[in-house]
Amino acid sequence: MYLGIDLGTSGIKALLIDDNQHITASASAALNVSRPHSGWSEQNPAHWIDALETVLGVLKSTFPAKLAAVRGIGLSGQMHGATLLDRDGKVLRPCILWNDTRSYAEAAALDADPRFRQITGNIVFPGFTAPKLLWVKHNEPEIFTHVAKVLLPKDYLRFWLTGEYVSEMSDASGTGWLDVGNRRWSPELLTATDLDESHMPSLIEGTEISGVLKPELARRWGMSGEAVIAGGGGDNAASACGMGVVSPGHAFVSLGTSGVLFAANSAYLPRPESAVHTFCHALPDTWHQMGVILSATDALNWYAEIARSSPANLTAELGDTLKTPSGVTFLPYLSGERTPYNDAAIRGAFVGLGRESDRATLTQAVVEGVSFAFRDCLEALAAAGTRLDRVTAVGGGSRSDYWLKAIATALDLPVDVPGDGDFGGAFGAARLGLIAAEQADPWAVCTLPIIAETVEPEARLRHAFDDAYARYRALYPALRSLA
Ligand code: XUL
Repeated sequence: MYLGIDLGTSGIKALLIDDNQHITASASAALNVSRPHSGWSEQNPAHWIDALETVLGVLKSTFPAKLAAVRGIGLSGQMHGATLLDRDGKVLRPCILWNDTRSYAEAAALDADPRFRQITGNIVFPGFTAPKLLWVKHNEPEIFTHVAKVLLPKDYLRFWLTGEYVSEMSDASGTGWLDVGNRRWSPELLTATDLDESHMPSLIEGTEISGVLKPELARRWGMSGEAVIAGGGGDNAASACGMGVVSPGHAFVSLGTSGVLFAANSAYLPRPESAVHTFCHALPDTWHQMGVILSATDALNWYAEIARSSPANLTAELGDTLKTPSGVTFLPYLSGERTPYNDAAIRGAFVGLGRESDRATLTQAVVEGVSFAFRDCLEALAAAGTRLDRVTAVGGGSRSDYWLKAIATALDLPVDVPGDGDFGGAFGAARLGLIAAEQADPWAVCTLPIIAETVEPEARLRHAFDDAYARYRALYPALRSLA
């Protein structure tokens, strides 16, 4: 048996798979985010440990024999968070999470230093770890002087599980300190934030062994043998391992609260100016690119609240046949946008409203606007040298057939919809645990899911969608000039 653990923002999930990768058990526990000031987003690492003990306790009481047989554990987690430890391994302050924007000025300052984009291949986003440390240095100097280790959230779980300070390439890529092309810490960039390599965990690949579960924890959970802990991955890279998106040409589009277009690459292809993330993948010598949009299903949820309906009702009102864009355009920048603009201040808009524009017209515009935001990500990936032939759709929004048709047509790509399965980080993490424990071939383990349905782009609407996308593209600079 193999155990995958995904430390998300809203909860922790643990999942057991057997030798044939069948999911045999899972458990989750919720986590809260504390927002003491506007733009702040923090979690107390002690709550992660409590939640981890809860889910392992559930697995132990419901499937003791399966948990006892665990040989490998993989970790996945929310990326970018800054967990600060003193030299005794004690947590110095709450973890500053990926969606905390307090360090925007520090991020802009680091991003203005050309070495950061050159060495990391990425913009220094306010969510990244490095600007958070600079913020602590400026605002909590007493804490900064005591920082002995900086750990990403899942690597703090690893420290608790094994006593080792280890990270892996995919999560480390989102810190702002990794030389992403060469897969090692950059001493130069660490120095730029008054840190050095001694503050960093050691680095391995996601498929390698980082340590062994502490004997007292193995005893507590009734595990009979020695369980090794794999490097694991940042949540997107780990999910990709679970979906078999590990070779060039494979990609997924995730329609969650925010949206991700993720493509696997066999080479390092940076293109920071289009606000694409270029990160190491969790498999050796593999990279990935990722366009991130901040409001995907969140845009339809927002509109459903205003229209006093539900997202499912609204999309059902559109019927089964994909419609010609109406001329009403929606820009989904309700929380700013990452790819392709890296603009935290921009806000959304409906443009082209007429007296005839009804509720369904606006729903259609919202669905199309989010689909065009993914087209922006596709264009950004293409500019970075990645061309896609098809994508696999996952996430809550992929339950709407209408939305899948709009995305297929906006991207002009077939969209594959997997059958039943788990496409979150925990399953991918369990696969990485299996690979590390059995020294298995990663590409043989990280296979593609069975596809239940493929949604083809609609050729009859190709030109109409291209025209609507051109209108959509033209609106950002116009809106920006008003801000
Ligand atoms: C990736 C990112 C999110 C977090 C949250 O860049 O910010 O996917 O990992 O889960």
